[in-house]
Amino acid sequence: MIFESHAHYDDEAFDEDRDTLLKSFSQNGIDVVINVGASLDSCQITIDLMQQYPFIYGAMGVHPSETGELDERGFNWLRESCNIDKVVAVGEIGLDYHYKEPDSEVQKKWFEKQLEMAREVKLPVIIHSRDAAKDTLDIMKNLHAQDMGGVIHCYSYTKEVAREYLNMDYYFGIGGVVTFANAKKLKEAVEFIPMDKILLETDSPYLAPEPYRGRRNSSLNLPYIAETIADLKGISYEEVLEITHRNAEMLFHINI
Ligand code: NI
Repeated sequence: MIFESHAHYDDEAFDEDRDTLLKSFSQNGIDVVINVGASLDSCQITIDLMQQYPFIYGAMGVHPSETGELDERGFNWLRESCNIDKVVAVGEIGLDYHYKEPDSEVQKKWFEKQLEMAREVKLPVIIHSRDAAKDTLDIMKNLHAQDMGGVIHCYSYTKEVAREYLNMDYYFGIGGVVTFANAKKLKEAVEFIPMDKILLETDSPYLAPEPYRGRRNSSLNLPYIAETIADLKGISYEEVLEITHRNAEMLFHINI
C-alpha cells in the first residue's frame, strides 16, 4: 500500500472531480493521504476533507508565501485546529525566498511562531524551504526543531545540507522532481539519504513526475516516483512502498 505524505486536495484544481478521484485511491493501492494546509482557508477545507474521508489526515499550517494573511486571531484559530482529531502535523511552514513576498522578516516571524506552536501541541512539522537553506537551518537549530521531529517536504537541496537535517533526525519528502532527467543534485541526495528517512509525496496538484510533467498531479502518480527511488537505491519497488509507508506511520503516529 502507498502512503501519500503531502498533497493539497483542497486546491481548486480538483473542484471538478475531487470526490471521484479520492474515491479511486483505495483500488489504486493508496491507503493514507496527508492533506497539507497552506493558508487558513485551506486548513479549514483540510478539516472538512478529513471528516469526510476516513483515509485523509491533515496538517495545519500557513505556507511562508501566505504568511502575510496571519495575525494573532488567525494564529489562535490555527493553534486550536491542531487539537482536532486526525490532525497529525503542523505544516506546511518554512521560508520561501524564490518569490520575495512577503518579505523575509515576516516569513521568519511566522515560521518561528509556528515551530513553537508545534512544540506546544506536540506535533511533528512539515517544512517548506526554497532558496532559503541557511536561514531555515539556522532557525530550526535555534528553536531545537529536532525535539518536534518532522519532514523536509519536496527536498531540493544538496547532500551536504541533507547531512545537517539527518543530524536533527528529520525525514525527507521525495516527489516528482526526482524523475526529471536534469535533477542530478536531487538524485545524488536521494542516493545519500538512508532509506529509513525517505517519505513519498506528490505535492499535488503541483510537480507531476515524468511522463506527466507540467500536467495536474495526483497521488495516482506516486508509482513513478517510487520506481525512480527503487532504481536509485537498488531495491525493489515493493520495498520502497513498504519502507516509506512504515516511515510515515512512525513520523505521524498513524497505525494502519
Ligand atoms: Ni505543498
